Amino acid sequence: MEILITSHHIADLKTHLTQLKNKGLKIGFVPTMGALHAGHISLVDRAKKDCDTVVVSIFVNPTQFNNASDLASYPRQEEKDIQTLKENGCDIVFLPSAEEIYPPGYDSITIDLDPIENTMEGAHRPGHFNGVVNVVSRLFKIIGPHIAYFGRKDFQQVAVIKEMVKQLQFDIKIATVETKRDPNGLAMSSRNLRLSEQQKEEATILSQVLKKGKSWANTYSPYQTREKMKTYLSESSLELEYLQIVHPEDLTDLNQYWVEGATACIAAFCGDVRLIDNMELVEYT
Ligand code: PAF
Repeated sequence: MEILITSHHIADLKTHLTQLKNKGLKIGFVPTMGALHAGHISLVDRAKKDCDTVVVSIFVNPTQFNNASDLASYPRQEEKDIQTLKENGCDIVFLPSAEEIYPPGYDSITIDLDPIENTMEGAHRPGHFNGVVNVVSRLFKIIGPHIAYFGRKDFQQVAVIKEMVKQLQFDIKIATVETKRDPNGLAMSSRNLRLSEQQKEEATILSQVLKKGKSWANTYSPYQTREKMKTYLSESSLELEYLQIVHPEDLTDLNQYWVEGATACIAAFCGDVRLIDNMELVEYT
């Protein structure tokens, strides 16, 4: 096993990856912002199954935070993350500095993400997806993987990345991996590190209401299901930011009719920690 750590050396990483690609090896890439948990490791595991070499990047991307205190309080645990990746068979860890990713005078890109971006995370975190597109497109250009892996927990992010790949014509396959949950149902997230034990218990209401929504979807319309879910959540200590039931591809709201892949997405505050979760309410046949 080999670990390559390059804080400031995109060029070294590229040379190394070119050698591997010239040998015909398949490269899998897992972009992360660190504070790794079992959800990230499930992406690494999947990449290991599909590919010969697995690259993980750890970079807390400043351009995707629209709130300075959220960026400042984002958990950072680099040494621990590197150890976790070593133990889980990752081949290469890429730890770029902000200057390396965004050199002085860098050109940022803007792509038209309508209607995918104008709702949910995009509506509540202005500029967030522009930051995601900028960092992921840069990482894709540096690493040039065959397959890149994203967690379904960031449902809207996956839709944005797929659209970006289409528009910028990246020859990269996007693989989505199911959300990992704690035994009590709480979706794993680096932000959970900021929750107290009691808050972790309170936050399980999110997966509970999503499961309820899935059963209500058998009887009620999307609109009625959404209203019932909101009422259920209003009795909890969490403060709801949005709860939407959306089309799986263009993310427009569903009201009257169900479609296969219809997904409920929630963002809510548990204390000052903002959590998101989602669930497919209507399965594909
Ligand atoms: O999902 C994340 O952790 C981030 O948005 C990503 C894809 C690593 C880009 O910074």
